[in-house]
Amino acid sequence: MVVYQIYPRSFADSDGDGVGDVPGVCSHLDHLQWLGVDALWLGPINPSPMADGGYDVADYRGVDPVFGTVEDVERLAAAAKRRGIDLLLDVVPCHTSIEHPWFRDRPELYVWSPEDGPPNNWRGAFGGPAWSQDPHGRGWYLHSFYAEQPDLDWRNPEVARELAGVLAFWRAKGVAGFRLDALQQLLKDPELRDDPPATGPSLMAGHPEHEALEHRFSSDRPGVGQAVAALRAGAGDDAFLVGEIGLPADRHAPYLEHLDASFCFELFFAAWEAEALKDAITAGLAAGKASWVLSNHDFPRLADRIGRANVAAAALLLLALPGPVFLFQGDELALGNGPGRPPGALPAPPYDRAGRDAFRHPMPWTELGPHHDFTAGTPWLEVVNAPEGSAKRQRVVPGSPARFVRELIALRRRLAGPVEDLTADDGVLSFRRGEHLVAVNTAGVERRAPPGGDVLLATVNRSDSLLPAGGASISQAV
Ligand code: GLC
Repeated sequence: MVVYQIYPRSFADSDGDGVGDVPGVCSHLDHLQWLGVDALWLGPINPSPMADGGYDVADYRGVDPVFGTVEDVERLAAAAKRRGIDLLLDVVPCHTSIEHPWFRDRPELYVWSPEDGPPNNWRGAFGGPAWSQDPHGRGWYLHSFYAEQPDLDWRNPEVARELAGVLAFWRAKGVAGFRLDALQQLLKDPELRDDPPATGPSLMAGHPEHEALEHRFSSDRPGVGQAVAALRAGAGDDAFLVGEIGLPADRHAPYLEHLDASFCFELFFAAWEAEALKDAITAGLAAGKASWVLSNHDFPRLADRIGRANVAAAALLLLALPGPVFLFQGDELALGNGPGRPPGALPAPPYDRAGRDAFRHPMPWTELGPHHDFTAGTPWLEVVNAPEGSAKRQRVVPGSPARFVRELIALRRRLAGPVEDLTADDGVLSFRRGEHLVAVNTAGVERRAPPGGDVLLATVNRSDSLLPAGGASISQAV
């Protein structure tokens, strides 16, 4: 299964307001079908004050007018289905927006301090205390992320009931599954004990204040499986559920009991180095149900993290692994980071205070045309073309990143069997999958290619015996 991640604000704008929307996604489904993906994951589209790019939901059953309507989502689900593509929505069960009516009217759904002040040392993921004073004067509430995102109390069965209802609501609209946000944050210590100081780096490269603590009591507490089970019950057994769990893969088991997949962030954060990549893949495979991802809306784009010269090899590695694979929009174009928030603009919505705008620039659809045809208006963030050209150009230029990704997706359908490590030269990651051999050169210099049969697909002109720097290939096993 290959899932294409869409950041709704930045995919395609249909009405000229400069912001991508659901009808815009509908009008570009041909691109997804051309690539050959099986599903699309649409980032949050619910009504939101956008303090966190829509991850601050003010109504789980609505669609923000900037993105369209509930009917637009139904139309998208049906249109995608006709092309053999499933629609997955992003659901944020850990917290709501502070502007969700529940926060005002049903405070019992949230986590409160028993004292008149923060009861412990917990920190928010973006820095600062995880406790803030309630604007309605009811004390102090918990927020694992921004202060505009109060945490729901998953120890209150009403919360599970409400969120399960949300998933059932969207299933009835034709949605096939969900990406579940920040699951490690659902359950906290009921005694609210202090987090101890960190003894080493955590998996997710977060804010330094957050990283200074080990999140022993502020996240991932026993019983979390029950919360995830409630989400499964709401979604139905046939829904595809992938969890974002910001923990090492060997701690995913209680979640995975009720999910189809979880993101293996070991691979995401591994240095572009054969041994590190191998360890990351091993960790994901050992946990079971790993899904693979090398890029998303929260971190610098692949080209900027591992170097443009390695992007094609990374795509080959990603798409050669067994289990679901996630591709972030623009990765098929080898799009790089953009400049981010325009100079002089305030760090306020729609811009991200944690500095992630640079990874969220709109898609360049055409070479010419105003704003590369992302919008007929003024784009919310500048549209920056990929060095190899827009989607339209890359679809016709032989050897373009997009054509390569498309060929990989097609070849992937023939890959079967488990990952079996092979020995290879220093800096070369090589494994077998049934009848096929995969080799990825991370050394930065030419290396000997592991012996194999016919090369079926390669990043750069590899000869029978040599793998150039940045080279990777899939060949027939002999
Ligand atoms: C997830 C999202 C991120 C968001 C956070 C809080 O990690 O990917 O964008 O800021 O959750 O909802």
